[in-house]
Amino acid sequence: MTKEKIWDVVVIGAGPAGYVAAIRCAQLGLKTVCVDEWLNHKGESSLGGTCLNVGCIPSKALLESSHLYQQAKSEFDQHGISTDSLDIDIKTMQSRKAQVVSDLTQGILSLFKANNVEMIAGRAKITASDSIEIFSRKTRKKFDELKTKNIIIATGSSPVRLQQAMLKDGYIVDSAGALELDKVPERLGIIGAGAIGLELGSVWSRLGSEVVLLEAMKDFLPMADKKLAALVKRSLSKQSLDIRLNSRLVSAKIKNKKVQIVYEDTGRKKLGEKKETFDKLIIAVGRKPNSDRVFGDELGIEKDERCFILVDENCLTSVPNIYAIGDVVRGPMLAHKGSEEGVMVAELIAGKQAAVNYDLIPSVIYTHPEMAWAGKTEDECQSAGIKVKVGSFPFLASGRARAMAETEGLVKIIADATTDRVIGVHIFSVQASELIAQAVLMMDMQATAEDIALTMFAHPTLSEAMHEAALSVHGQAIHIKN
Ligand code: NAI
Repeated sequence: MTKEKIWDVVVIGAGPAGYVAAIRCAQLGLKTVCVDEWLNHKGESSLGGTCLNVGCIPSKALLESSHLYQQAKSEFDQHGISTDSLDIDIKTMQSRKAQVVSDLTQGILSLFKANNVEMIAGRAKITASDSIEIFSRKTRKKFDELKTKNIIIATGSSPVRLQQAMLKDGYIVDSAGALELDKVPERLGIIGAGAIGLELGSVWSRLGSEVVLLEAMKDFLPMADKKLAALVKRSLSKQSLDIRLNSRLVSAKIKNKKVQIVYEDTGRKKLGEKKETFDKLIIAVGRKPNSDRVFGDELGIEKDERCFILVDENCLTSVPNIYAIGDVVRGPMLAHKGSEEGVMVAELIAGKQAAVNYDLIPSVIYTHPEMAWAGKTEDECQSAGIKVKVGSFPFLASGRARAMAETEGLVKIIADATTDRVIGVHIFSVQASELIAQAVLMMDMQATAEDIALTMFAHPTLSEAMHEAALSVHGQAIHIKN
């Protein structure tokens, strides 16, 4: 029993926010324990939260497999590679994914050991600002009680459920269920054309499903650059993803082993109800913070109307010494945002100075090509009254992109017209998820478009598009007409 000990920090949750916070706390010499309740489908404790178990990592594993299959099917022939008989074994694809997940979740356990972070598998409940009770997930019985100087809540988020289409018998599934399908559905419906809908839609469409995405809003990816969002939509439509905007789900029922849905076409002057039948339906309409059951109201930890735990810029809650980070607090629900908050809070608890730059959180959607952006969009600049100069460069003019036969997309750089500082970068291309890192770096270092223009980039690389886009801000691009 760990009863007598007083911990410096108890971290609740071992997702990318919590496990990173715990490791950094321990590195800074704080006596740290991390409590996590996640059980995998074998009923074993598994660290890494949603990201590693049923989110970022398994989806990227399936995106990789499905992309290779798609390439072999329709792109190899241009390289002179013939594949007479091509097949995909979904079971093998799924077990490779499970292995990737298992290696990485066990990797966190090794990191905990290496850094002297203690781990407790169980459900934590905060009973006072210095006390936490731990319950078994299986028996629900209390088996431990911890005393601590600081608490970090990193309990993450869960998929939003739709009353009109509750999860059912493997026919109506959430994102976790959609990663576990054991065969390719002939017709797949997806409610929500956000990041999850688009990524899962891409996976199953590449493997042969006829995919229809129903999106309630009238705009596609409204938080992204308008021009790039339009390019992504056009590209995905060419890849046979049927994206229907203004389409709100009304009802769903299972009949004859199919999912029958009714949805409303809100874009028409006269509201029209439409019907569709699918083999599977994925619900991907957002996520909600896991802020219930972690503490009682008597503790005084305040939440907003959407149940996010209220925190200040240091991620401190309304109770001294209780912090909250990651998906359970305001800001985008992104693993890297949670991790950075984890590092910041660890440093603050250790008495150091730390901050997160919330203006520079990169966003990526892992379609093919990928969409990635950081900083401001042109629309945001316009609303804020910031005068801008914009440069862009299409991958059609990139030698490397041509050699790769990946010429779709462009880089767009937005610079402040007065200071020339780069304030927004928007990319649609293969490896945009990698390219965006240099954009974040340049903006964090407060580089000007001229700084980037004066930097030497290796040739031939996709990164040269960033260089050319910066040159084009001042009408000096070499490989396009300015
Ligand atoms: P989302 O909020 O990005 O998209 C959900 C979409 O569903 C919205 O566009 C919404 O208008 C639509 N919707 C809601 N109710 C609807 C209805 N009744 N009928 C039709 N459409 C409806 O949420 P998503 O895709 O589920 O992702 C959840 C979170 O996970 C997000 O915060 C996202 O950023 C994060 N995530 C990030 C990824 C990445 O960075 N690549 C990948 C996957 C998830």
